[in-house]
Amino acid sequence: MIKKCLFPAAGYGTRFLPATKAMPKEMLPVVNKPLIQYGVEEALEAGLSEISIVTGRGKRALEDHFDISYELENQIKGTDKEKYLVGIRRLLNECSFSYTRQTEMKGLGHAILTGRPLIGDEPFAVVLADDLCVNLEGDGVLQQMVKLYNQFRCSIVAIQEVDPQETNKYGVISGEMIRDDIYRVNSMVEKPAPEDAPSNLAIIGRYILTPDIFKLIEETEPGKGGEIQITDALMKQAQNGCVIAYKFKGQRFDCGGAEGYIEATNFCFENFYKTGKAY
Ligand code: UTP
Repeated sequence: MIKKCLFPAAGYGTRFLPATKAMPKEMLPVVNKPLIQYGVEEALEAGLSEISIVTGRGKRALEDHFDISYELENQIKGTDKEKYLVGIRRLLNECSFSYTRQTEMKGLGHAILTGRPLIGDEPFAVVLADDLCVNLEGDGVLQQMVKLYNQFRCSIVAIQEVDPQETNKYGVISGEMIRDDIYRVNSMVEKPAPEDAPSNLAIIGRYILTPDIFKLIEETEPGKGGEIQITDALMKQAQNGCVIAYKFKGQRFDCGGAEGYIEATNFCFENFYKTGKAY
């Protein structure tokens, strides 16, 4: 059973400067909740209550968010404002939180490797909190992936079809279709130019990884952009055994940039805030 979820959250968030100069990108609010809280809620819904967060310099607000604020609690005790804290209190009660710091930002693969002491030798999920994923029709995206893991018992990446002109923003896969929403990966390229992309099936910020990935990351040389890429390690895993790519049900908003962030804000305002489901 998967119990742990790793949140690499050490990146600089340069696309969102100057907002992210002194504040973690993962703390940007979508309506009334920070991005990271949506991610932790999705993890808990999938049964993953052991939350591990890879932070970096200037990211202390993340730790403070998942803690009790006694002065605030005291101030609003007995008032109707207590309802605003119901959701975050539930996360504090039902999840454990552990942290480690990535001291040099050497890429997503390196951030995941930095989380190794928190994960140990078991399968785990990875959430990039700036990808906000929602499914109004049923299971959340991580929950869908956990169910699939129980069937396939190998690493899984969530994918979606993207505009072929935008492949250079993503890791892109090609593979053999084994169900209309499942591929067995046989190749994976990080941020290919449209003319070099093997498909328009792009990896988004949800993964389930088996623990042999750590050794494969250790053996991975810096790739595109001089960073240690998780796609390079996953490619080796796909060659040695099996990696599944899953076209998830639901919607994903790229909140690392202004356009996706505004779309997510409008979506959450309509579907959660206005309907009283935002706390
Ligand atoms: P991004 O590619 O979105 O980078 O990282 P970024 O720094 O967060 O944002 P931009 O592109 O400069 O605006 C994908 C995920 O990997 C984490 C980020 O925090 C984000 O969740 N990451 C990336 C790390 O934790 N460490 C790294 O060294 C790089």
